[in-house]
Amino acid sequence: MGGKNLSNISIAVVRRLPKYHRYLKDLLDKEVYRISSKELGKLIGFTASQIRQDLNCFGGFGQQGYGYNVEELYKEISRILGLNKNYNIIIIGAGNLGQAIANYTGFGKLGFELLALFDIDPRLIGMKIKGIPVLNMDKLDEFISEHGVDIAIVCAPKDFAQEITDKLNKKNVRGIWNFAPADLNVAEGIIVENVNLSESLLTLSYLLNEKELLSG
Ligand code: NAI
Repeated sequence: MGGKNLSNISIAVVRRLPKYHRYLKDLLDKEVYRISSKELGKLIGFTASQIRQDLNCFGGFGQQGYGYNVEELYKEISRILGLNKNYNIIIIGAGNLGQAIANYTGFGKLGFELLALFDIDPRLIGMKIKGIPVLNMDKLDEFISEHGVDIAIVCAPKDFAQEITDKLNKKNVRGIWNFAPADLNVAEGIIVENVNLSESLLTLSYLLNEKELLSG
């Protein structure tokens, strides 16, 4: 099953996969083991044809007249998302956001192991968040060389985000999950995924206003 070359998959499809992953996990938790593309579409809010098209990108999983085997599909999408591996992660900037992320246990369950947080504030250095140490930024280089870090989560103020990225560029970090509202210049081979809650909130604000305008 599956096993298609992933390099030609459009990013739009990739961005829908976590949603499939989440819904399929919910179905398994409810002991639903088989589902048609129509039912899955109704649940997720995609059309049945969208679902068939998306899943065909990876080699097609369904069987005519049977639908999808939820467990197999869940496992396959987990594998496609790289969740059959473990990732070492660190957080840079142990303020409000950095600590909130460190306190969330859900990422650990997906295989993302938080090794340490880093900060420059002496009041934070030496603290532990859920048992994970906050280390001095001075120790970043040495720490990455010693432990190997796949993903760095940038939760520092935007004015420092590039300076931090320059440090990461010199190390063997594979990905940056960037929360700072800044466009980062990264070394070749490093992948950046930006997250911005404000953009999402502004989208909501737009939709609220649009609704108000349309209703008179
Ligand atoms: P905060 O002020 O509570 O925490 C920032 C931490 O970064 C502080 O502990 C500070 O000592 C540390 N820091 C400063 N310079 C540093 C450096 N050079 N190296 C390492 N650590 C350094 O701020 P908060 O609220 O946690 O926000 C952090 C960042 O996340 C900001 O850039 C903010 O704009 C952004 N943010 C983004 C959101 C999003 O949806 N993308 C949502 C909330 C915040």
